Amino acid sequence: MKITFCCTDTSADAWLAGLRAALPGADVTLWQPGAPQADYAVVWAPPQQFLDEQPLLKALFNIGAGVDALLKLKLPPQTQVVRLDDAGMSVQMAEYVCHAVIRHFRELDGYEADMARGKWSFRKPHSRMEFPVGILGLGVLGERVAKAVAQFDFPVNGWSRTPKMLAGVQCFAGAGQLDAFLQASRVLVCLLPLTGETRDILNHRHLSQLRPGGYVINVARGAHLVDDDLLALLNSGHLAGATLDVFRTEPLPPTHAFWQHPKIVLTPHTSARTLRTESIAQIAGKIAAMQRGEPVAGRVDT
Ligand SMILES: NC(=O)c1ccc[n+]([C@@H]2O[C@H](COP(=O)([O-])OP(=O)(O)OC[C@H]3O[C@@H](n4cnc5c(N)ncnc54)[C@H](OP(=O)(O)O)[C@@H]3O)[C@@H](O)[C@H]2O)c1
Repeated sequence: MKITFCCTDTSADAWLAGLRAALPGADVTLWQPGAPQADYAVVWAPPQQFLDEQPLLKALFNIGAGVDALLKLKLPPQTQVVRLDDAGMSVQMAEYVCHAVIRHFRELDGYEADMARGKWSFRKPHSRMEFPVGILGLGVLGERVAKAVAQFDFPVNGWSRTPKMLAGVQCFAGAGQLDAFLQASRVLVCLLPLTGETRDILNHRHLSQLRPGGYVINVARGAHLVDDDLLALLNSGHLAGATLDVFRTEPLPPTHAFWQHPKIVLTPHTSARTLRTESIAQIAGKIAAMQRGEPVAGRVDT
């Protein structure tokens, strides 16, 4: 069995060593143009040339949660695209979002600034009931985030494409309930996949429906957010702030208005990193299952 590794912006050595250790019978190599045909591929943002030269792959394992970049390419028709189910990402996303919500709710930025100036003073506590948190997308990551936020007794709303029932979460579904979901939320967390339907979903019409003092946390993809609409609503005062981890252009261009905005907290697309050890174990398990002819979780419709 041949496995080829083609991951842009990833140091290959540790992945290759890990995959060889987890699949001792396999021939695991780093892809180079002109390399022989493999049975399976482990990829992140591969070039189209890779797919054109590997038409007989049984499966492509995408090592990040988002498959939007991969689905823009022309894929071999019989190749299954398989994503990691979780592999340690959802707990990272839950801690990132809870941190962002609590940092805003408890005004920790303000306290840090006060203390840095030697000022000892108290701010009036907010009521949790006035901070309903809405999670756009209740998939692998969104569901974990919704449950984690609910642990802190915030009211939690969730929105998905198809109806869902989650304990402790008021669930909304489909385009028909999106406005009601937004109007019921003050903090909005985006955890949608990037598709034709969800691109630009964080726009003026939708963000202006959040309760006054709204707060936006985008941890999905930069193209969900219309940057100028967010800036307009922050500057008008309807929105109180935003935490952004993902951007239309990454790295965020040096002249972008987000860098200097006093109401925006930025991180460099780091809210949920691919963890190598967990990912390799999961890929090895899925390859072994496919070799036995068993179905695997995480197959993506292409
Ligand atoms: N910032 C980072 O470091 C980082 C790391 C990992 C992932 N991400 C991003 O996080 C996002 C969420 O990932 P995930 O793995 O949780 O996604 P997922 O499991 O595919 O879940 C997607 C959720 O969105 C809902 N949804 C609503 N409209 C949809 C539409 N038009 N098409 C498809 N789904 C729609 C789905 O509803 P149904 O359940 O009804 O289908 C589902 O609840 C992705 O954008 C991913 O790229 C970011």
